[in-house]
Amino acid sequence: MCSSASCARATDDTTMTKPAPPALLRVTNLHKQFGDNAIIKGIDLSVAPGDRIAILGASGSGKSTLLRCLNFMEKPTSGRIELGGTLVGTEKTQRDGSVKTDYSERELTAVRQRVGMVFQQFNLFPHMTALGNVMEGLRTVKGMAHEQADTMARAQLARVGLAEKADAYPARLSGGQKQRVAIARALAMEPELLLFDEPTSALDPELVGEVLRVIRALVEEGRTMLLVTHELGFAYHFANRILFIADGVIHEDGTPDEVLKHPRQARTQAFLARHNEFHF
Ligand SMILES: Nc1ncnc2c1ncn2[C@@H]1O[C@H](COP(=O)(O)OP(=O)(O)O)[C@@H](O)[C@H]1O
Ligand SMILES: [Mg+2]
Repeated sequence: MCSSASCARATDDTTMTKPAPPALLRVTNLHKQFGDNAIIKGIDLSVAPGDRIAILGASGSGKSTLLRCLNFMEKPTSGRIELGGTLVGTEKTQRDGSVKTDYSERELTAVRQRVGMVFQQFNLFPHMTALGNVMEGLRTVKGMAHEQADTMARAQLARVGLAEKADAYPARLSGGQKQRVAIARALAMEPELLLFDEPTSALDPELVGEVLRVIRALVEEGRTMLLVTHELGFAYHFANRILFIADGVIHEDGTPDEVLKHPRQARTQAFLARHNEFHF
């Protein structure tokens, strides 16, 4: 039996060391290979609610593959992905002692609603209007009634400044408008986490700003986002954390000041020097 004094302290200690809420996303030892070609080679990553993480890295370093694994457009070769503290998939120990994870399509469909994705090439359906594109997932995945999906989709288009383009087909929209429709489509699913894969790389320079402004508004809402980008200036202001990926691993990880202004790794320094070459 403990004395009242130590019991009181023990109670206090328990309050003080209350466990932190689970990470929104936790990635452990993620690997992805295509045939014999290893692309992601052991990535560990923890994303807290409200984190805005910019991902930098040379072309071919595995940035898109990483994002595609996080919403299961690609199935990881091995490793664990936990969403809201729950493991995605079912782990099975093999005869040789290794662990294999089985994924059911049903579970992955649910996960893809929680983890939204915006692509460099927009990936809009060309035969659907802007409104139709935003409604599609609400109708087919969420099973929403037509009228409710219409209302929701119009609200999302208004949010990205495109209320008046609801009836326009993608061919009639500029790249910046197409990308804003794609963002509205992702937001309509009410994801917990948003992944952006170079959302401005396919745009004419004068259209980059309108898309970055929409993303900045999402920052102000406190959304949790991972953004692959080559816009270093935007990354500096957007992110609370920056990852530099090289050869399928996180080569450097820190605050924007640490990674962009005082990189420790020679490879990060060389990458930044190349990207800043013509900034004057
Ligand atoms: N579906 C695939 N099949 C085979 N190889 C792929 C596939 N997707 C990506 N790769 C390869 O993985 C490497 C990394 O690609 P990617 O993740 O797109 O890099 P990044 O986005 O950093 O430019 C590249 O060599 C690419 O050819
Ligand atoms: Mg890419």
